Amino acid sequence: MTLSKDSPIVIVGSGVFGLSSALHLAESGYSNITILDRLDLFKLKYSFENGADTASADINKVFRASYAEKDYYHRLALRAETQFRKWDKEVRELDPELEKAKVFRDLKIFSHSGMITLDNLQELSEDQHNSLKDFEKSGLRDAQYIINDENDQKRAAEKGWGHKLNPGNIRENPYLDHVSGVLDTTSGLLHASNALIYVHQKLLLHGVKFLLEAQGEVVSVIEENGKVLGVVTKDGNSHRAELTIFAAGPWTSSLVPELEGLSEAQNGNVLLVKIPESRIDLREKYSVENFPIFLWRTGYVREREKFAGFGAFPVSGSDGFLKIICRQKKFTNPQKLELGQTVSVPITSRSEPSETRLTKVLVSQVKSFIKVFFPDLVEFGIHQTALLWYTDTINNDFIVDYIPKRENALVVTGGSGHGFKFLPVLGQYVVDVIEGRENIYTEKFKWRDPKQYGDINHIGDVQTGKSRFYDQVLAAKADLQFSEEDLKAEVVL
Ligand SMILES: Cc1cc2nc3c(=O)[nH]c(=O)nc-3n(C[C@H](O)[C@H](O)[C@H](O)COP(=O)(O)OP(=O)(O)OC[C@H]3O[C@@H](n4cnc5c(N)ncnc54)[C@H](O)[C@@H]3O)c2cc1C
Ligand SMILES: *[C@@H]1O[C@H](CO)[C@@H](O)[C@H](O)[C@H]1NC(C)=O
Repeated sequence: MTLSKDSPIVIVGSGVFGLSSALHLAESGYSNITILDRLDLFKLKYSFENGADTASADINKVFRASYAEKDYYHRLALRAETQFRKWDKEVRELDPELEKAKVFRDLKIFSHSGMITLDNLQELSEDQHNSLKDFEKSGLRDAQYIINDENDQKRAAEKGWGHKLNPGNIRENPYLDHVSGVLDTTSGLLHASNALIYVHQKLLLHGVKFLLEAQGEVVSVIEENGKVLGVVTKDGNSHRAELTIFAAGPWTSSLVPELEGLSEAQNGNVLLVKIPESRIDLREKYSVENFPIFLWRTGYVREREKFAGFGAFPVSGSDGFLKIICRQKKFTNPQKLELGQTVSVPITSRSEPSETRLTKVLVSQVKSFIKVFFPDLVEFGIHQTALLWYTDTINNDFIVDYIPKRENALVVTGGSGHGFKFLPVLGQYVVDVIEGRENIYTEKFKWRDPKQYGDINHIGDVQTGKSRFYDQVLAAKADLQFSEEDLKAEVVL
């Protein structure tokens, strides 16, 4: 395929993967780019609070470079961090009127909060050891502090990280016999919606065109003799392109059914605790300045267990939200497509009927998590929940490649729960694929045959219908508050 710099390119999806693709294409000189999306995310300020229902549209996300045995993501994350810090500096210098005009939530993109990964083990886990090795290789071992190591405690105090080494007095927690962990001070909090608004504005300056809502919702693909010629949107218009990029996150497999069994939508969750304005003490205690990102028993091995896979995000905005997520068993929504394939399709706040409930089992565990680690937040209950959908691939590697047996069409997807942090760098590999440059990332992100892999994400459940979202017992609104019983119940860790 020969693409020239002024060839029309259509990108379906304006999440992290679509925007990053557009940014790198535009910066490489491609001048006729159109982004299509079913939502006007700029208007929704890239946040679920305003009605967005996508993985990218979130108030904050983890930035981390700890990647255990996958050191190629470790190195890529460090490159992304440099760029995030640059963008952060740029937005902090913007006219404060922009904040008042509520274009951004606040003028921040990256807060250097640090992240603590905790477990009730005697020793560090294998993942933690592997991540420490990666940091050592990158010359960043000094930025890691093992919480029970006296030397590291002393170092942390000297470097001004001492207060983050024992958040909420974790080492004295009455529920825990022992606790182990590492404070990684290269990690931080990404102000996710701000980052996307910032990139969106950059794209407008590059002349990238956005067609949104009915004008941008893709309903079918135009094809002739195995060649993709563009797409048709809900308003009936066709958009012809010499290259069509599918970056529709967990909806991609509905548009590209060949992804069946390779990349599937699985549900994730967000829960918000709102600390009222009157509780200055608690807003201070849990602020991004005083509290790290707090992970409890995360990592692939842990996340299938009960009371594991929790993350709490420090309060970063004037709304006083402390965000909690839980990564455990995920569910799917298998649907049969016209061509016969069965893929999972997200159920969200914008589905009919609208859905924001989480499973009762999950809500009950999150309440225990709050009770054990954040007892002073119990009185506020859970303010709001949202369903966000992962685009899980068979092996957690992203996909940036041509669709087999269909010309002129690329998929850029498969975020697998860790894609946000690569917003500044990911699109480079789209340009590399188009221009025929190979490297370790274009190699890792190739289209792959799912049968060649063990199904670590259990996405095969889409075919068996074993883990359907609507087969679960869902939490009611009343379940979001702590009942007398919840308060009395014993917590089993
Ligand atoms: C709960 C949760 C927590 C996460 N936490 C982190 C984290 O802390 N750190 C991190 O690095 N990563 C994290 N991730 C992963 C990260 O959010 C994703 O990898 C990334 O946002 C995926 O971006 P995307 O563009 O592929 O998908 P999406 O954000 O889902 O975007 C897809 C876009 O396509 C549009 N679209 C869909 N169908 C159509 C259509 N037919 N026509 C037009 N447009 C369409 C949608 O409206 C949407 O805007 C998390 C993911 C989840 C679900
Ligand atoms: C971009 O491509 C479209 C479709 O071929 C064409 O109609 C349009 O004129 C092009 N725009 C520019 C600025 O070249």
